[in-house]
Amino acid sequence: MPASRRGSGTVTLPTGQTLAFHTRTQDEGDLPHATKKTMADHLRKYESLFTLTPQRMRMIVDAFKDTLEAGLEKNGNTVPMIPTYVFGWPTGNETGEYLAVDLGGTNLRVCLVTLQGSGRFEITQTKYRLSEDQKQEDGQKLFDFCAECLKTFIDQHVGEEPGMINLKPGDKLPLGFTFSYPCSQNKIDHGELIRWTKGFGNPNTEGHDVAEMFRKSLQKYDVPADFISLTCDTTGTLIASHYVNPKTKIGCIFGTGCNAAYMEKVADIPKIKSLGIEGAAEIAINCEYGAFDSFEHEHLPRTKYDQIVDETSNKPGEQAYEKLISGRYLGEIMRLVICELIDEGVLFLGQETYKLEKSYAFDTAFLSLMESDPTDELLMIIGIFTHFFAVETTLAERQFFRALAKLIGRRAARLSACGIAAIVSKMGYLDEGCSVGADGSLYNKYPGFADRIHEGLIDVFGDKGRNIVTYHAEDGSGVGSAIIAAMTKQRKEGGLYLHV
Ligand code: BGC
Repeated sequence: MPASRRGSGTVTLPTGQTLAFHTRTQDEGDLPHATKKTMADHLRKYESLFTLTPQRMRMIVDAFKDTLEAGLEKNGNTVPMIPTYVFGWPTGNETGEYLAVDLGGTNLRVCLVTLQGSGRFEITQTKYRLSEDQKQEDGQKLFDFCAECLKTFIDQHVGEEPGMINLKPGDKLPLGFTFSYPCSQNKIDHGELIRWTKGFGNPNTEGHDVAEMFRKSLQKYDVPADFISLTCDTTGTLIASHYVNPKTKIGCIFGTGCNAAYMEKVADIPKIKSLGIEGAAEIAINCEYGAFDSFEHEHLPRTKYDQIVDETSNKPGEQAYEKLISGRYLGEIMRLVICELIDEGVLFLGQETYKLEKSYAFDTAFLSLMESDPTDELLMIIGIFTHFFAVETTLAERQFFRALAKLIGRRAARLSACGIAAIVSKMGYLDEGCSVGADGSLYNKYPGFADRIHEGLIDVFGDKGRNIVTYHAEDGSGVGSAIIAAMTKQRKEGGLYLHV
């Protein structure tokens, strides 16, 4: 790559992306761009706003830990600590064919999972992109769509050949439904939606049993599926990761939303004492900790940009922790900072900025692309601003944007470390150490996200923080959901705790 490139054209980056770039052939002096010094001054201000000190992190972890404990005590807490009725770890020898439907964010996914035992599996799947309208239409319609897609998928995959579903007339396949929104459960095939998250807002769903709604849709479309379990991606991640790596004790998602799950002794879940489950039994807890510090906003360092993101969301006050961390919001936080500098006349004076002024126009993927731009001139950043927003940037501005992305991404990772640390500290996993199966677009695609989580854990716990290691999890929403369905079937066939 030449150190300096002028003119217009396209560039293919090592990541395989092709981007148009356009740099000015003359001096960059004829538009009133900000000077290098001005940008550096601004950056200092944002550095102090978005930087989390180790001391502040430890305070957050302490409050977080108290919140987790309080959620196990009684029902109705903001961080609900949901007992999932997934009892203990998989043996690794669960076998059979299972359907999994995964509704949780950008896509709807339907899968056929063949569990082969010894921690092995095969998966066939189809993805359907959900439109913004589908996220706001009547809830039953959304579940109808899921059932219809599942029906099509089964029809396409029924057959005698290997890899096909061998389904005799009248047979039904066991189905695990991954529904990644907070639901209070009083048994595994039931779940009352507490609140929509991640921008969903389908009416007539909150407060309803979504398992029942989905069953109704399955009947409507005559889908040959036997609804076994309702689970969320995080619990699925915990179980799928343990299936292949038994050192795993925590499952996390850092994607469009954020959340974690871990295994808890029934004796330590006071709120389910009356269910008559043996105290020594273990149940996976879906923390739903994206809701940490919601409404009261006492513990998290919210900037004014975070407050705007919150106030202009479809759920003001809710999911306070998630709004500082997850992929749905990071691009918007960055966009709000840029818009402030436009309003102050620092950036893009004399240029049309309406494209940047549109809410959520700035994708979180841009932050990771900016951070990973390998060129001296920051050609990727030129590409983003010219191609998507039709504005020109100077090198000083691009360096500022890259640094700003880093601040926002780093804060998200360090806050993510706080949630993991709270579980580690509550459960006493530090000395012995543990593996944390993590999944989601931020964890998988944002450069350095995992390293920053690890640095954060060391900042919280000192050197012992190295004992906590995150790794890329198995597919919790597909494979995990199937394993959970298999475990549940086995449990019920064995007559254990049939009431939950
Ligand atoms: C949901 C969780 C989910 C997480 C990650 C959150 O918004 O409430 O159920 O696990 O996103 O997808």
